[in-house]
Amino acid sequence: MSDKIFIGVAWPYANGSLHLGHIAGCYLPADIFARYNRMKGREVLMVSGSDEHGTPITITAENEKTTPQSIVDRYNKEHTDNMDQLGISFDLFTRTTTKNHESVVQDIFSTLYEKGHIYKKSIDAFYCENCSRFLPDRYIEGTCPYCHCEKARGDQCDSCGKLLDSSELMNVICKLCGGTPVKQSTDHLFFALSTFETKLFDWIEDKKHWKSNVLKFTYNWLKNGLQDRAITRDMSWGIKVPVSGYENKRIYVWFDAVIGYFAASKEWSKKQGKPSKWEEWWKNKDARHYYFLAKDNIPFHSIIWPSILIGYDESLNLPYDIPANEYLCLSGEQFSKSRSIAVWVPDILKKFDPDAIRYYLSINMPENKDSNWLWNDFVAKNNDELLGTYGNFVHRVITFTQKNFGHIPKKGNLKDLDSKALKKIEEAYKEVGDSIDNCNFKKGLRTTMNLAQFGNFYFDQNQPWNLIKNEKERCSSVLHICIKIVQALAVFMAPYLPFSSDTVWKILGNTDPIKSWDDSLSELKEGTPLEKPVPLFKKLMLEDIVEEADPFSKLDLRVAKIIDVEDHPQADKLYIMQLDLGPLGKRSIVAGIKTCYSKEELNGKSIVIVTNLKPAKIRGIVSKGMLLATEDEQGIISLLNPKDATPGAEIFVEGIPREPVSVLEFEDFKQAIMTIGDKQEVVYNRKPLKSKNNTVVTDKKVKIGAKVS
Ligand code: MF3
Ligand code: ZN
Repeated sequence: MSDKIFIGVAWPYANGSLHLGHIAGCYLPADIFARYNRMKGREVLMVSGSDEHGTPITITAENEKTTPQSIVDRYNKEHTDNMDQLGISFDLFTRTTTKNHESVVQDIFSTLYEKGHIYKKSIDAFYCENCSRFLPDRYIEGTCPYCHCEKARGDQCDSCGKLLDSSELMNVICKLCGGTPVKQSTDHLFFALSTFETKLFDWIEDKKHWKSNVLKFTYNWLKNGLQDRAITRDMSWGIKVPVSGYENKRIYVWFDAVIGYFAASKEWSKKQGKPSKWEEWWKNKDARHYYFLAKDNIPFHSIIWPSILIGYDESLNLPYDIPANEYLCLSGEQFSKSRSIAVWVPDILKKFDPDAIRYYLSINMPENKDSNWLWNDFVAKNNDELLGTYGNFVHRVITFTQKNFGHIPKKGNLKDLDSKALKKIEEAYKEVGDSIDNCNFKKGLRTTMNLAQFGNFYFDQNQPWNLIKNEKERCSSVLHICIKIVQALAVFMAPYLPFSSDTVWKILGNTDPIKSWDDSLSELKEGTPLEKPVPLFKKLMLEDIVEEADPFSKLDLRVAKIIDVEDHPQADKLYIMQLDLGPLGKRSIVAGIKTCYSKEELNGKSIVIVTNLKPAKIRGIVSKGMLLATEDEQGIISLLNPKDATPGAEIFVEGIPREPVSVLEFEDFKQAIMTIGDKQEVVYNRKPLKSKNNTVVTDKKVKIGAKVS
């Protein structure tokens, strides 16, 4: 392994808050890797910064009726603070609006131009006559020519990941006015990407260590033939083009952003007072370059950025690895800024400690396939694993030793299980280390948790609470070994959970911070006083978290099929109905719909019920759930109709996670106000209620806006 590691992490657009998808996708894995490598004594340079140009920024500014500058200032500050709070240990987190960045980008641009890698070409670009402007990148939307997704943007299709040339898009519309733009001729500068094909093929030949998705994606791209790409845009926000005749255009945001890795390395060197220090990473052939990013960024890092580097200066280092992650989803749906499906970093940091967040994101990292952020799983893993296994082990060892010895007790003579424990530590040292070296972060954490579990087992087996009574010497040995395990855990956890590792380290009586991976194996200094233990992690309650969620997410709405209807013996207007809820079984409810529906009409009908409403006794009969219906001023009741959905099927609203509470209070039910839309569909927050294949509608025609209850 080389002793110089460069870590580039994708630059987040400064046009909105970060969400957990960003953190799991690249910032956390990069940070784990950086912390570990520093502990291995390797010289790490980890950089990133705010991506502040391009249409993502200008569109946000236009939507908010403010300037691009004020948008990027706001989010650069927020992102910088958030990264810091999460413990993402950048050597430099800068921005693409610095003077340094501008001059490095312009220098590379000019050099490529002089070398003939950039050339002029007149193209037909989309122009909106309504808005009197060209429509670069995200200002247009249309059908992707490759996968036929209808929401492809001008520069990339999110659905298939293909980079697009806006002229390829079909059925294009202007995102500003919704109109149909026309093509108009305009001059642009093109990067001769196609000429790098052979060199890229040669370069990726030995990249057998890449993740298969990254390798496959890159190979496919190369095999399909590379196309030259326009790298200027008709806009006024961005880096000026250092070629005359292009005063009204700007450099394409992606061309500018990837150069950030190189520019930031130079900026960091200047700040160190050693302006050429960056060369130790960029020109030293032994240095290794790692780029962390989520999968939609792969082609920019595996094709475009290497080509720019090769074209600019062949002596510069190319990526060694690009361990791109898949996506973190929220209860099954992709995090999305534009659709506001997300757990926002500023929000979650207000509620939870960074290590609790880091633990769940690490153990659940979308390394090889998409994974899910599930609130109940977050709570369970926090309580059962982080607190229950690791925190608990540290706590019981330290409190017991504190109370009975007050310091690190003597090792004494070892027994079999003791030697086994020491061996376990050594094995973990290697296994966790190798896992992180190979960017298998989940595996490294699992191995560490196994050691914590073994610790608990060892403690229980030896029963120090009995030994202390009349075998004090043996007790001392056992606790010594336990503390060895605690010490090792603190070190192995340090890349993942830096804050709590620090705390454990101090409790062990260390005054210096954890420095080296080898600290995990060092001999304990017998007699060192132990600090008073403090709780490492907090127990979480699902109910506290869900309280903040959308009121609709607490509801458990299901399709139910009516299998029997009887009159209520005690009331004229009530029926007692037997319902079939498929996998959820059968149950009976009481409903006041007798005036509007006959038994015959009801039998066999599918309806929608709230299954988790607190059961209520209605005139002596228990009703386990409530059906949903509307009632107009004349008292005409209309049931909700899920069409032919199967009994038990979940009813949901896209974008709102289903997180039903076990018992729903009627007051809480009333918070989720559902009404009728103009197609007789049931809506919540203007979005339709759906089962898997159908939209829920009303059974009879009722007034638009009528409330459902
Ligand atoms: N801002 C881009 C995104 O959020 C990532 C840019 S990575 C860079 O998708 F390296 F080009 F900066
Ligand atoms: Zn597509």
